[in-house]
This record gives sequence, structure tokens and C-alpha cells, in this order.
Amino acid sequence: MEITVRRLRPSELEEAVRVEESAIKGFGYLRDTAELFFSDSVGAMLGAFTGEELVGIAKYTVLPDRTAWLETLRVAPEHQRQGVGTRLYEEFVSLSRALGIETAAMYTGLRNVPSATLARKFGLDTAGKYREFQLSLDGVTPPEAETFEPVGEAEACALLAPLAERYEGYAVLNRTFMRMNDDVFRAFAREGKVLVSRESGSVMVFGNRFLERRSVQIAVMAGGLRACMDYAVKIGSERGVPQVVATAPLDDEALQSALESYGFRAAGDLQVMSGKIARVG
Ligand SMILES: CC(C)(COP(=O)(O)OP(=O)(O)OC[C@H]1O[C@@H](n2cnc3c(N)ncnc32)[C@H](O)[C@@H]1OP(=O)(O)O)[C@@H](O)C(=O)NCCC(=O)NCCS
Repeated sequence: MEITVRRLRPSELEEAVRVEESAIKGFGYLRDTAELFFSDSVGAMLGAFTGEELVGIAKYTVLPDRTAWLETLRVAPEHQRQGVGTRLYEEFVSLSRALGIETAAMYTGLRNVPSATLARKFGLDTAGKYREFQLSLDGVTPPEAETFEPVGEAEACALLAPLAERYEGYAVLNRTFMRMNDDVFRAFAREGKVLVSRESGSVMVFGNRFLERRSVQIAVMAGGLRACMDYAVKIGSERGVPQVVATAPLDDEALQSALESYGFRAAGDLQVMSGKIARVG
């Protein structure tokens, strides 16, 4: 049957959530990101239909450095392997071409063969492997923490550029993998997410892209790692969120061991995949 793709309306949220829940049982978040996703005038919340039935969804997002980011790609199980994901990717490529965007990216679980295979068909390739860590704040007494203050755009670029290599090129907030370049650093700074402690000379990218009630997120930290983690726990506790999340390159054993000795637990291995729009599709 023919598959059509179009922008979804906010009134179609419940149908979209139904597709999400069927595709990734229990891990849905669309309901909590709906306000952001449906109000994005640049990147559409896409729906794939067979006839009148919504069978697949995907959010098209343009990141601050004009990378096209494909997220929340889900196809209802009974409609998988029938070309629905392919149609959503095709739309992703044609939207990118229309906007003159050159680079495409997405993330998926390191062991998610269907998703990675589909991405490879469109010319995306593994650009980095990462491990997500979580620290439960349940019953945790907030520690004393150093004062961290937000910095401006120029200082953010100066502080974060030297960390890009160690982080293998990506800063991750809510599993959104953003290339560590000046456009992204400036956007983080404008959002007040680049924080420094003058006391220990520590720097972090800290905050959320969305899902503010579920966690606080450390995208990058350097200097006094304990000072950074203490600050994250303190702010997370004040906000009443259940956990702190941090992401480390899969090969960075030192950073992972610092997270684990503080009490973080490994929660999943992820890969970011990217490619040039000129070569995809
Ligand atoms: C990943 C997903 C979106 C693919 O959607 P889909 O509509 O089944 O994809 P398509 O039918 O267009 O498949 C296109 C190609 O992808 C690859 N592919 C899809 N499913 C696959 C599977 N189970 N195993 C191996 N390759 C697979 C194949 O190369 C396939 O081409 P083929 O059918 O000619 O062999 C779907 O499996 C899904 O919703 N999974 C659960 C949610 C998820 O993992 N989302 C990914 C982002 S985290």
C-alpha cells in the first residue's frame, strides 16, 4: 500500500504516542516533548500514513550548527519492514536539501541493528560510540557544591574547544548528539548551559534539551570532576528530578571510572551516525 508522509498536527498527538508506545514499549517520551516538537516551525513532526492510518513517526530537527538531526523514528511493529522507515528517511533527505543542509545525523542503541542498517542504507555511518550513565537521586543528601556560573559565548568557545577531542567530537544532552563546534558552544552559552567554577577551574555543559522533569544532564565536564558531579547532584536534588545523566565516550575509561566511583551506573551504549546529505538517499 502507498505510504504518504506529512507534518503532523498537535491534535494528532495521541495517535503519534500510540505508534511510539507500540514501537518502543515503556520508553516513550513524545508526550513530554510534544510542546517543543509540534511548535518547531523549522523542523516538522512527521507522520507516515498508509491510507488514513498513522503507522510511523519521526521528528526532523535542525541543530544549532545546521546539522539535520533525525529523532524519535518509530514504526508500528505490524507495519515494520514495509518501507515506512525508508519513506521517513526520504522525507528527511528532501527537507534537508530544501533547506540547503549539508550534514545529517541520528543516534541509536549500539545493538539496534534495524535502525543502524536503515541509517547505513542512507549513507550514514558510525561517527562515535558512547556510554550513558545514570545516578539515582533517590534518598541522596545534596552535597556541598562549589558555585558554578554561566559564561558568555566567547569564553564558552575558548573553554570547550580544547575538550572536543577528549569527548570524541560530541556533547550529548538528552541523547541529542551535538558536534562540539563554535556554533554549538555559542548556542549552549546563550541557553546558560556552559558553567564554570572559578574556585577549582572546572567547566561543564549542564542542563537539558528537554524532559526537564526526568533528569539533569551533564554533557561535558572537565577540571574537578567531583566538583562538577556534586554541582549536578545538588541542582538535580533542588529541582526534584529522579536522576543525573552523563554520557562518556565508550573508550574513555578514565571518565567512566570517575563516574562509576562517584556512584553512576552504566545505562546503555549508544552510537551517533552521520553523513553528508549530498551522498545520502
Ligand atoms: C528502525 C525502524 C524505524 C525501521 O523501520 P521500518 O519501517 O521497519 O524500515 P524499512 O521497512 O524501511 O526498512 C528499510 C531497511 O532497513 C533495514 N532493516 C529494517 N528492519 C530491519 C531488521 N529488523 N533487521 C535488519 N535490518 C532491518 C533493512 O535493510 C531494510 O531493508 P529491507 O527490508 O529491504 O531489507 C523500526 O524497526 C522501528 O520503529 N524500530 C523500533 C524503534 C527504533 O528502534 N527506532 C530507531 C531509533 S532509536
